[in-house]
Amino acid sequence: MKPSAHESAVGHVTGRAVYADEQHAPTGLISVYPVQAPHAHARIGSINSEAALSMPGVLAVLTAADIPGLNQTGPILADEPLIPADEVRYYGQAVAWVVAETETQAQRAAKQVVVEYTPLPARLSLQQAIAEQAFHMPPARVTRGDATAGLAASPILLNGELHFGGQDHFYLETQASWVQIDSEGLVQIVSSTQHPSETQHMVAQVLGLANHRVVCRCLRMGGGFGGKETQANQYAAVAALAAWKIGRPARIKLQRSLDMQLTGKRHPFFARYQVGVDAEGRLQAMCVELVADGGWSCDLSPPVLMRAMVHVDNAYYCPHVEIIGRIANTHLASNTAFRGFGGPQGMLVGEEIIDHVARHLGLPVDQVRQRNFYRAGETPDRNQTHYGQPVVDNHLDTLWSQLIESSQYRARRVEVDAFNKGNRHVKRGLAITPVKFGISFNKTEYNQAGALVHIYTDGSVQLNHGGTEMGQGLHTKMIGVAAHCLGLPRERIQIMVTSTDKVPNTSATAASSGSDLNGQAVRAACENLLERLRPIAAARLNGEAEQVCFADGQVFLATQPDQRVAFVEVVRAAYSARISLSATGYYRTPGLSWDAAKGYGHPFYYYAFGAAVSEVEVDGSTGIHRLRRVDILHDVGDSLNEMIDRGQIEGGFVQGMGWLTCEELRWNEQGRLLTDAPSTYKIPTVGEVPQEFRLDLFQRPAPPTTKVIFGSKAVGEPPLMLALSVREALRDAVAAFAPGPLQRVVLDSPSTPEAIWRAVEQVRSVTPSVSSATTEQAAPA
Ligand code: MTE
Ligand code: MOS
Repeated sequence: MKPSAHESAVGHVTGRAVYADEQHAPTGLISVYPVQAPHAHARIGSINSEAALSMPGVLAVLTAADIPGLNQTGPILADEPLIPADEVRYYGQAVAWVVAETETQAQRAAKQVVVEYTPLPARLSLQQAIAEQAFHMPPARVTRGDATAGLAASPILLNGELHFGGQDHFYLETQASWVQIDSEGLVQIVSSTQHPSETQHMVAQVLGLANHRVVCRCLRMGGGFGGKETQANQYAAVAALAAWKIGRPARIKLQRSLDMQLTGKRHPFFARYQVGVDAEGRLQAMCVELVADGGWSCDLSPPVLMRAMVHVDNAYYCPHVEIIGRIANTHLASNTAFRGFGGPQGMLVGEEIIDHVARHLGLPVDQVRQRNFYRAGETPDRNQTHYGQPVVDNHLDTLWSQLIESSQYRARRVEVDAFNKGNRHVKRGLAITPVKFGISFNKTEYNQAGALVHIYTDGSVQLNHGGTEMGQGLHTKMIGVAAHCLGLPRERIQIMVTSTDKVPNTSATAASSGSDLNGQAVRAACENLLERLRPIAAARLNGEAEQVCFADGQVFLATQPDQRVAFVEVVRAAYSARISLSATGYYRTPGLSWDAAKGYGHPFYYYAFGAAVSEVEVDGSTGIHRLRRVDILHDVGDSLNEMIDRGQIEGGFVQGMGWLTCEELRWNEQGRLLTDAPSTYKIPTVGEVPQEFRLDLFQRPAPPTTKVIFGSKAVGEPPLMLALSVREALRDAVAAFAPGPLQRVVLDSPSTPEAIWRAVEQVRSVTPSVSSATTEQAAPA
């Protein structure tokens, strides 16, 4: 399909695109502001609002007692009170909300609310939670074969452990919502939410209303990245509560530091592994334990953890696997979805293992990677993941060899090694890593979508679908699908605000499947309309309905392409004949199955593939690095919109690089987030973008075997994990500082300058070991 600019591109760059909190304020709009607890864990005593209530503009101080319905917003478990009544569970948690005429007045008054606390012991790290065995749920397990026997039979056994950090979403638009109770008593929500249906249901639950009394709309978000998949709900609910209590429209928009303190992030993980390999570095067996820091409540941690567990393998086959996953229960903000949804964490561990194996054996890492790829046509097992799903449409080998060629990997390897021989204080590193990422929600029921299309009698079209726009270009792609199906120019299609009264019971726009699911629903709706228009057109053109084609705003018979009528004429004729010009479309992904208890099934419709080569230069005396060059080859199938897909790949890569290199979250001993502003939390900027950034879309040797919308492939999340090549290139550079070959190079994540410097110091101080492929057994952890 023809690429086109993002439908809001001009609005984005001129600032004219309107976000939730920038819409024309209804008269009487009031604001809310939280009263934050200065403890990570404490019992709540009395709350005295007297002084606050006497401040100018203050209308109310809302506490748990003001909630008319259920004080509950947990998306999976009912473990998340909207306003805690008895216990504070993380530092800065809102124990009350001040409602005032303006946000400034509410903020001032919040300081005057006097709350009595009895501090309780707090768990402020993953390690502490593990030591105290504090977990949210029973352990999850995914296994294949017999990992214990497999390890025992392996000639070489290695083990290791690592701990790596989370990531703040840092969407440009923070959490925002406003709510108005309309003249009929319906609750009208405008929210920056990736999941309007769940926001609707949560607000209804909190207010004690049936779902049909609540409408949630979202026109566009200034970024979501997973952070608004569940965590927009609370803020919509607080605004709704204020509107309900006071009887005036109420808004909330978190200031940046509040957003960073209150909302959950990408899960930090702890991982421990044992891996058995042969002398060529082929994986024989592995046992991996993953612990995700869930924070104070469950939120989406179980599926995030599960996605990590089913992505530890990345692109690599291992016959005997045991993955055990746990969710640590800590007194920190509740961690949530973040682009990749646990996949990046799982794959980071997988790549750590592969690097460990290769260095231990003294083999080139890229060779060990490729040697272990899933591969069709060997044993039946060899192309099947540890959770029982075949790697459908597997082009890993082709894609890999193409990128090795196009990036001149081999020649540059030689250059990098030569550079390192000639330089003592500055070293370069080079790495290539693959991405295989499962597309579909693990939870089968989410894989459905709906659309609603209206054709008006002037031939113009309104398009509604269940997905949300967060900058990823979903609306632009959906306009493209409708325009293509109806044979109309894009200008004839008006995208409508996503609204729960147009398309109900939608899934979150997440798991990269927004365009796969909604695209098929839009197509179905358009097909339904065309079915009705074809007989009308056939009658006018004196032909058969099956012969009718729609293109360029015109209608004609395939047999007589020269004889055409305008689309609008056919539409008018249909209206006169009393044919409905409005249709819904619905889609469910076929063939999915998932047994969550067994960790087994066919959860993904297909896989997204890509690979990246990164080259870095590290200054050993400061730990500062530069990303010299990145080459990416990524498979988007027959792209729905190449320009948008390229943007997703570049943006995803840079965001992944931020997670792995510069974004570091720090808390103090009380559990207060110290890095709650752009001044202390470093996100990648244009200065960190690779000096040379080459991106190619994979030219597939065969069309995809799965029936995705127009042969396209999901692109939202997978490219983030291409950034693992930066981490591995950094490790490669660090290794070059050692006096000789090393069997293991430890590098913390995020690899900030401090972390890189520490790693360099570490490798400089070790005595080099001669690598060997003997049956050396590392001590068990
Ligand atoms: N791109 C932009 N510009 N902003 C975002 O918030 N979110 C990402 C990705 N790309 C995001 C983005 C995440 S986490 C997902 S799951 C997908 O977009 C969701 O959209 P899609 O399913 O339509 O690809
Ligand atoms: Mo994306 S983490 O699935 O919203």
